[in-house]
Amino acid sequence: MMPIGPLMIEHRLIERMIEVMKRQLKRWEREGKADPSFIETAVDFIRTYADRCHHGKEEDILFRELSEKPTSSDHTRIMEEHSWGRETTGRLVEANEAYRNGDAEAVSTILECVKALVEFYPKHIEKEDRYFFLPIMDYFSKEEKDAMLKEEYEFDRVLIHEIYRDKATKAEE
Ligand SMILES: [Fe+2]
Ligand SMILES: [Fe+2]
Repeated sequence: MMPIGPLMIEHRLIERMIEVMKRQLKRWEREGKADPSFIETAVDFIRTYADRCHHGKEEDILFRELSEKPTSSDHTRIMEEHSWGRETTGRLVEANEAYRNGDAEAVSTILECVKALVEFYPKHIEKEDRYFFLPIMDYFSKEEKDAMLKEEYEFDRVLIHEIYRDKATKAEE
């Protein structure tokens, strides 16, 4: 498998969660309210899976190796999109906390952020799947591709332990 294989498989799971978020968003828009516990689930998915696990591998392995090659600056633009996603998710978390604490006005920021995220992810994924991942593979030798794939597996292996070590540390505070 090429190192873009696991990343494309991860895209499919991200799409599934985005579809659920889209359905929830439609309901909230009709009802003028939001569901803070579902938002927490969605935020956890976005932060842990889509950002830390998935964008983590893209940025720390694939784009790092790509930056050594004489490519266009496409990957820097894609990294800017990742940053935008992080900021928007941060705004969503803040608005959700405010909403939970009784600020009914926060619902408009929640809906705005969720709408932005469900529009962003499919476009971002399509860009990578259709126009980015395959062409950049040409820059790498078979050995380089194998090494990246191996590093991705190691990244994933370590991640679950990092996540729960962080949770335990936070609980201790
Ligand atoms: Fe990405
Ligand atoms: Fe991606």
